[in-house]
Amino acid sequence: MALRLGDTAPNFAAQTSIGPIDFYEYLGNSWGVLFSHPADYTPVCTTELGRTAALKEAFEKRNVKVMALSVDSLEKHAGWIGDINETQHTIVDFPIIADEDRSISHAYDMIHPNASETFTVRSLFIIGPDKKVKLMITYPASTGRNFNEVLRVIDSLQLTAQYSVATPADWKEGEDVIVVPAVSTADAIQRFPKGVNVVKPYLRYTPQPNK
Ligand code: BEZ
Repeated sequence: MALRLGDTAPNFAAQTSIGPIDFYEYLGNSWGVLFSHPADYTPVCTTELGRTAALKEAFEKRNVKVMALSVDSLEKHAGWIGDINETQHTIVDFPIIADEDRSISHAYDMIHPNASETFTVRSLFIIGPDKKVKLMITYPASTGRNFNEVLRVIDSLQLTAQYSVATPADWKEGEDVIVVPAVSTADAIQRFPKGVNVVKPYLRYTPQPNK
């Protein structure tokens, strides 16, 4: 059955571009981003992996470990990484899984047969330190993902994990956040000393608590 939000992310052992990895050991207590792409030596994927490498510090700052996946071989990964580094002016040093038997792709439902019988689509999972799936997005092969959005979601998830807040549509770092419905306004006033703006009893804003 397909994975859903809140499910435990399946552990796996993988052959990767930086050597064999046990997924849970690799993650440790960090957050994780696991994402698939259709194939090596393809243009959109080249830009995505370059962008991921360029965001190394942004992921590290958020205590996030990233891991990519395709069903291509380690040999292909090694050659292609050279091309990514050359064309995207980056150093790809995060692991890329060679899922040749497709076992991980199937565990994470990354193959959508009506899109392609054999190749993974652009699936992306954000996994919490508790190993639960916090976000899933799926893009078609022809559309490169927006990694600024991935970072934005991580910021939102980490705020929610630390404080009882949610983030409104199009929220960006530094903007006001929303008090979750489970917290009463009286409690919110205690919890959020920067103030609570009650627009409706169910729509209450507070400045971002960790700013
Ligand atoms: C790409 O990464 O450019 C790509 C891969 C498969 C189909 C279309 C585009």
